[in-house]
Amino acid sequence: PRIYIPGDSGALALGAEKVAKAVRAELADRGIEAKIVRNGSRGAYFLEPMVEVATDKGRIAYGPVKPSDVKSLFDSGFLTGGYHKRWLGAPDKIPFLAKQTRLTFARCGVTDPLSLDNYKAHGGLKGLQNAVAMTPADVVSQVTESGLRGRGGAGFPTGIKWKTVLDTTADRKYIVCNADEGDSGTFADRMIMEGDPFVLIEGMTIAGIATGATKGFIYIRSEYPHAVAVMQKAVEIARKAGLLGLNVLGSPNTFDMEVRVGAGAYVCGEETSLLDSLEGKRGQVRPKPPLPAHKGLFGKPTVINNVISLASVPVIMDKGAAFYKDFGMGRSRGTIPIQIAGNVKYPGLYEAAFGMTLGEIVDDIGGGTATGCPVKAVQVGGPLGAYFPRALFDTPFDYEAFAAKDGLIGHAGIVVFDDSADMLKQARFAMEFCSIESCGKCTPCRIGSTRGVEVLDRLAQNIEPEKQIALVTDLCNTMKFGSLCALGGFTPYPVMSALNHFPDDFRPTPVAEAAE
Ligand code: NAI
Ligand code: SF4
Repeated sequence: PRIYIPGDSGALALGAEKVAKAVRAELADRGIEAKIVRNGSRGAYFLEPMVEVATDKGRIAYGPVKPSDVKSLFDSGFLTGGYHKRWLGAPDKIPFLAKQTRLTFARCGVTDPLSLDNYKAHGGLKGLQNAVAMTPADVVSQVTESGLRGRGGAGFPTGIKWKTVLDTTADRKYIVCNADEGDSGTFADRMIMEGDPFVLIEGMTIAGIATGATKGFIYIRSEYPHAVAVMQKAVEIARKAGLLGLNVLGSPNTFDMEVRVGAGAYVCGEETSLLDSLEGKRGQVRPKPPLPAHKGLFGKPTVINNVISLASVPVIMDKGAAFYKDFGMGRSRGTIPIQIAGNVKYPGLYEAAFGMTLGEIVDDIGGGTATGCPVKAVQVGGPLGAYFPRALFDTPFDYEAFAAKDGLIGHAGIVVFDDSADMLKQARFAMEFCSIESCGKCTPCRIGSTRGVEVLDRLAQNIEPEKQIALVTDLCNTMKFGSLCALGGFTPYPVMSALNHFPDDFRPTPVAEAAE
């Protein structure tokens, strides 16, 4: 028998290691020989630890499994898919998973993350094989035609970025993968690195071949030790198998990569600080231009892409630009891994074509709040994203549609709040976050965020509220238009959306009225 127990950080946090230990002990007690595969997570975190067994009728899932369930699972004949109170049936029929369109995450949670054979058996490497048989310009135009846009948050067309690097002549070029996933409520990068690391390696290698870069770096935040370990092992395996190094897949191309670990600064997710950090300096934002595509790592042309952008390339190169482009709406093509978190009944990763409304995501997929209280606000796009009230739940998940309502989809993390949330406190939190994480290079962010905290504190104490509201509005405008990077520039989104959509939270009840 073959048993799958996720080794993904999310599942581990929910007790997967204890479950694995209990399963091993039970197998030993009963004298049963079985292979335990530590797969990634399929992303339905409300069912983790989700244990699966391979049976004659396909895989059968059980979850969430507690160590105390393990004995009775064996008693119920779980190795052949027997019924137990944790029985979930075929994992791909679980509604949360069945309704998704899994292109980028197709293998995540299904395969053994570190088995290259398993990767190939599930469609891996086909994209790279196609890419090595094409000219670099043709690979770049495929990516451009697919409509893929930067999944880190800014949504810049990936193919155009690659073309800039391809067209820039230099003795050396680099591919940098931004895996400094720092947004609140996001975990897509971590999940793919832990659950399907070869797809990222394949995507980076395609990027190298397409642009003439020979070296890649994966910059992973230090808070992700499991992802670091899995990626390091996967890079070694890929190198030994001839996928990295000289003559990639027998082609004349050379491409190799290594994993680098960050040191915990949020601003190092900003691309130019990340490059400084990779060069061994303190991570500070560089002014643009020059763009990293022209002068990036060590002054050389550099493609810097988010994990999900790069991990989406293999399926595009395998199935074609037209296939990928067929999903989505408007200028947002393909699929997006939406990460549903916060006070929500069904948290997890949901990959879907662009275009679902925020209401469908929160109410139907997420099942509303975990507390059962009404949803008050949803923050989309990380700590720098806007708070949307129910009135904006008809907004489709699309870069332009969110921007039109003064929001951003960012890295597609959504955090749900119930009606106990105090939006003035949330606005203060955004300003405080900015003041703590500011790299200090520019005044609107470094000083503005500190003043912002003070103004909001005065507002909370009901000191001349109208004056404070005017001040914070003015300050937000200065930060939005005067900051060098998105940290200072986007902090106004959570602050102003909280103020505009939840004005009551910003005008404390007058003392006299409260006393009546
Ligand atoms: P940006 O709009 O300045 O740039 C987007 C990308 O396009 C950059 O890589 C830039 O170098 C590139 N680019 C622009 N013009 C180009 C050209 N002509 N040729 C080639 N490349 C070109 O945005 P930025 O500051 O890089 O990112 C801001 C975004 O980051 C925000 O939207 C926010 O959502 C997101 N973000 C993501 C976080 C995460 O954890 N994933 C955390 C914080 C913010
Ligand atoms: Fe640094 Fe803030 Fe200016 Fe960005 S906006 S460069 S984080 S001081």
